[in-house]
Amino acid sequence: MLLGSCEPHDAPPGRGPRARCCWGSIAAGLPQSGQGSVAPNDRWRAGNAELNNFFHLGQFTLLLRSKVSCNDYELLRKTKCAFEKADSNQRVGVVRSGSQLQVPVRWRGQATAAAVTESTKPEIQPDVRKPKTGILMLNMGGPERLDDVHDFLLRLFLDRDLMTLPAQNKLAPFIAKRRTPKIQEQYSRIGGGSPIKKWTALQGEGMVKLLDSMSPRTAPHKYYIGFRYVHPLTEEAIEEMERDGVERAVAFTQYPQYSCSTTGSSLNAIYRHYHKKGEKPKMKWSIIDRWPTHPLLIQCFTDHIQKELNMFPPDKRKDVVILFSAHSLPMSVVNRGDPYPQEVGATVQRVMEKLNYSNPYRLVWQSKVGPMPWLGPQTDETIKGLCQRGKKNMLLVPIAFTSDHIETLYELDIEYAQVLANECGVENIRRAESLNGNPLFSKALADLVCSHLQSNEVCSRQLTLCCPLCVNPVCREAKAFFTSQQP
Ligand code: FES
Repeated sequence: MLLGSCEPHDAPPGRGPRARCCWGSIAAGLPQSGQGSVAPNDRWRAGNAELNNFFHLGQFTLLLRSKVSCNDYELLRKTKCAFEKADSNQRVGVVRSGSQLQVPVRWRGQATAAAVTESTKPEIQPDVRKPKTGILMLNMGGPERLDDVHDFLLRLFLDRDLMTLPAQNKLAPFIAKRRTPKIQEQYSRIGGGSPIKKWTALQGEGMVKLLDSMSPRTAPHKYYIGFRYVHPLTEEAIEEMERDGVERAVAFTQYPQYSCSTTGSSLNAIYRHYHKKGEKPKMKWSIIDRWPTHPLLIQCFTDHIQKELNMFPPDKRKDVVILFSAHSLPMSVVNRGDPYPQEVGATVQRVMEKLNYSNPYRLVWQSKVGPMPWLGPQTDETIKGLCQRGKKNMLLVPIAFTSDHIETLYELDIEYAQVLANECGVENIRRAESLNGNPLFSKALADLVCSHLQSNEVCSRQLTLCCPLCVNPVCREAKAFFTSQQP
């Protein structure tokens, strides 16, 4: 079992939950009911370029002082927490399949952990900085807290650009309410919320710092986060940009591959915002609407895959099947001409070229819901099918989302790499790290914006074409809105 909390009775005598900076260790062993278990919460520590790993355990936060890969988290999840003694530099010993992971740890009481968390937050952009160019980082977002899950789901099910339901205004609240407990349970198992805002802020900070020196003509640059289903909502970010007096606004999708369900929905939201207000934007808008084969994006994916491949036993490495996993789409969306499947395929192709086709691979699709047909093969069925055919070493690669989110931390890491893999008799399964805090990824974002600003183009040529079987009139209006902007 994952998560739970370290109840006070787990603490050693004389060391209550308010203890600060006490030192301790985790004893190896399988999880036991009621005992603490571990959820990862990576944090990039600015200044020393060291990735620290925090594991929140109820009242305490465990700080790992060394780099730990996502699969090592699985080892850690299988431990029970137990304090031993109050001296420094305790080490954790975790044993699985004969291999041992040793990492130095220390415990912090919650208040201290919060202080550390605070001090390692990405730098706040100073208020004195009047931005000339605003970069709106578009994404769906995810609930930061369990209490945010319901509203997240409600906005999602109400989004007519994402899905159309009969009597949507009535059905959406019903479905959102019914699904909330299940989704809250999933978020509780990845640490109590989505890390996507944290990662987006970090990536945005890295991007604008680089941009100010790469493109002084358009500086100062400021990033804004525009989520579709949680705060800060796209509409709130636009208002903030207008208030800041931004002259040039770049709507920058954080989905490398374009789909009308994701990027298209965000662009329609920008158009609707102005349409509803009956006002023209004061800023000049342009769009980075897709970037599936950007060289630095490909380099990041390749690096993360290579790093993870190297963690497989040497005699198995060549046989590892690389499973590129992307969020699936209903076939009704695919069949109206959505470009997403082809663009995801383009990313996969470039990555495999860069890897010199070192391993067999497949593009597979995850997160299907409901009884209607969706794009396949499904990731879970692929894992099962490969095992049945004797292919028992595999590497999962999230290829259509750049930061960690529920589909990586829960669906890939827990549902597939733990539960399903055990059921199927997988020998070795690992997951390539998401791009998260990789500095090269911030560089990729900066390079994309810099080239876009230099190009003076409003959007890609591809965006000007509606899906051949599109029935949503807003798509056409939104495209006309953007193409009428002259940067
Ligand atoms: S659904 Fe693709 S352009 Fe409208």
